[in-house]
Amino acid sequence: MQILDGKKAAQAIRDELKIEVAQLSAEGKKIPHLAAILVGNNGASSTYVAAKVKACEEVGFKSTLIHYEETISETKLLDKIRELNTDPDIDGILVQLPLPKHISDEEVINSIDPDKDVDGFHPINVGYMVQGLPTFVPATPHGIMLLLEHFKADTKGKHAVVVGRSNIVGRPMSILLSGNSNPGNCTVTICHSQTKNIKDFCLQADIIVAALGKPDFITADMVKEGAIVIDVGITRVEDATKKSGFKLKGDVDYENVAPKCSWITPVPGGVGPMTIAALMKNTFRSCSQKN
Ligand code: GUN
Repeated sequence: MQILDGKKAAQAIRDELKIEVAQLSAEGKKIPHLAAILVGNNGASSTYVAAKVKACEEVGFKSTLIHYEETISETKLLDKIRELNTDPDIDGILVQLPLPKHISDEEVINSIDPDKDVDGFHPINVGYMVQGLPTFVPATPHGIMLLLEHFKADTKGKHAVVVGRSNIVGRPMSILLSGNSNPGNCTVTICHSQTKNIKDFCLQADIIVAALGKPDFITADMVKEGAIVIDVGITRVEDATKKSGFKLKGDVDYENVAPKCSWITPVPGGVGPMTIAALMKNTFRSCSQKN
């Protein structure tokens, strides 16, 4: 069993970006600038946004963190996005999800200029991705593809089972893995909450991507010997022995599944760092299109 070490692969991507940013700077060109919007005080969302801002600092990007109270109106949020859309210094806009119930995710996503939509959630960018055209690809599935590429995983002709159908991970993941690309060229099955006999599908999988947000959902009896297992889950579960009071749990019962795998991602240190590295790549791409 080998570890798909996301920390290591993400560091390699950040190191490359650092060099590219230094080159831009030396040539007197524009430096990438990411604007991140956080609404409310959800602990996990605050942590993710802080990690994104920190990654910007590390690679030499500019970043602006805009933090609103939970009670901000949708109109005010949309006004801010429109302002960022027209600000020539801003290359990427991300609004951390989930948003409070009184704000429509759809309205917010659709209001972001597709050329600054570094999360790749705007329908125009989703459309390009589905057609296999160059565009901003959502950070988590993009990060997983970069991870498979980094460790030269053989995906061609393999059966990939994606568990979860969210717009952020499961659906785009299924599209990327089925694309005529490397990594890619998989035969893909999507399983979700209404799928009967998920275990039967998983047992046929050469690659499992678990992205449903249920700790330890994928157990050893669901995994074929030699499978590649990608764990997207990062649920916070109470743990009194930790200073924070919680630990992060993946969707995969790592301890029992890992011995059966050819490759597996740990949690933490697998998909999480790759998500952020992919966002940095998207932001760099956005800036490059203007330089
Ligand atoms: N919430 C969970 N994942 C993501 C992500 O990739 N981008 C944003 N904006 N919000 C998220």
